[in-house]
Amino acid sequence: MKISLASDHAGFEQKEQLKAYLADLGHEVVDEGPDSEDRVDYPDYAAKVARKVSEGLVDRGVLVCGTGIGMAMTANKIKGIRAANIVSPEFAALSRDHNDANIVTLSARFVDLETNEQILDAFLSTDFGEGRHADRIRKMMSYD
Ligand code: RB5
Repeated sequence: MKISLASDHAGFEQKEQLKAYLADLGHEVVDEGPDSEDRVDYPDYAAKVARKVSEGLVDRGVLVCGTGIGMAMTANKIKGIRAANIVSPEFAALSRDHNDANIVTLSARFVDLETNEQILDAFLSTDFGEGRHADRIRKMMSYD
C-alpha cells in the first residue's frame, strides 16, 4: 500500500520507527516530515497527509502526535477524510470495518511502539465491511 506518514515533534521518534516498520512490511511510505524533533505545529502536518489522501495520491494516511487528537481534528477538516484517533488494535479494526477510516492518528506519549505497530497491522489489513455500514458512511460524508 502507498502510505503518507507525518508527525509533530512529540510523535517524531515513533514516526521514524513506524516508517521503518511499514517499509519492512513492504509498504511504500511517503514521509511528509518533520525531519527532526524541533518544535512544529501539528495542523501543518495533518493537512499535508490529509490532502494526499483526499486527492487519492496515496491509499492511507498515518499521523503521530502526543495524543493523536489534534491530528485527527485537523485531518477531519479536509474533504473526504475519515480520520480516527486509535489507541487499541480492536478499535483500529473497527474503524476500518464500520467507519472505512482512511487515516489513523496515533499517540506517541500514551501508547507504546509495539501497540502502535499492532494498530497499524489491524488498520492496514482490515477491509471496510460495506453492507449496513455503507449507507451510514454516505450519510456521514454528505455533511462534508
Ligand atoms: C504537542 O505538545 C501536543 O499538543 C501534540 O503533540 C498533540 O498531542 C495534540 O493533539
